[in-house]
Amino acid sequence: MSTNKVYGDAPNRLELVENDTRWEFADVTWQQGIPESFSIDQSKHSLFGASKLAADVLVQEYGRYFNMPTCCLRGGCLTGPSHSGVELHGFLSYLIKCNLEGQLYTVFGYKAKQVRDNIHSWDVANFIARFIQAPRIAEVYNLGGGRENSISMMEAFRLIESISGKQMNYQYSDKAREGDHIVYYSDLRKMQAHYPDWRITKDLNSIFQEIHDGWVDRHRP
Ligand SMILES: NC(=O)c1ccc[n+]([C@@H]2O[C@H](COP(=O)([O-])OP(=O)(O)OC[C@H]3O[C@@H](n4cnc5c(N)ncnc54)[C@H](O)[C@@H]3O)[C@@H](O)[C@H]2O)c1
Repeated sequence: MSTNKVYGDAPNRLELVENDTRWEFADVTWQQGIPESFSIDQSKHSLFGASKLAADVLVQEYGRYFNMPTCCLRGGCLTGPSHSGVELHGFLSYLIKCNLEGQLYTVFGYKAKQVRDNIHSWDVANFIARFIQAPRIAEVYNLGGGRENSISMMEAFRLIESISGKQMNYQYSDKAREGDHIVYYSDLRKMQAHYPDWRITKDLNSIFQEIHDGWVDRHRP
């Protein structure tokens, strides 16, 4: 399990356009998202990202050097009803928890228009099962919800408000997190070409609903 942090903050160098509720890639080249061929070099990764990248390259090397079946899955936002999100990790899970509890949520920069793709743990596990059934050597895939399951912070507030009926209580901080992506969503075309029977089965509405219900269940005395 690798991460989109292997690309460091290089995606932030892409030209963006500002829409009403989200930032979007200006160049059609990236319209389907960030592909596996994107540069992993000469950008700021965070120490976490750099250590994941070191492991990612080692895993690939075992594949190429020893002809072993290996796979690096560069995750976007992986989530689900049992995710225990906290402020700096697990954004949707934490955002939905704050909404339910009426807790103050802090948006860090980018006008609350930063975009992430979200994938349900069921679809992650399903892909892993398919790879195990038909493994390949030294593969790398960007594993996320893709463009269809991408959402901005502002859009996420609206969606959870419509599900829970509760207003989001948030404040805005001008300071973005160090090296944080402005827009990131995964280009899923490579994995879909290699595994045509795999697809995203849980859309954003069902992911939100399940996380919401997961927190409600956990809060029950
Ligand atoms: N959640 C995300 O958005 C996301 C994004 C990109 C990459 N990833 C990667 O996916 C992987 C799983 O992330 P997650 O969010 O599901 O994390 P998580 O904390 O929910 O799950 C990690 C699991 O690993 C187990 N674990 C920890 N140390 C272990 C050890 N020494 N031996 C065996 N098991 C151990 C924990 O018990 C836990 O079940 C991580 O490698 C993470 O970097 C996650």
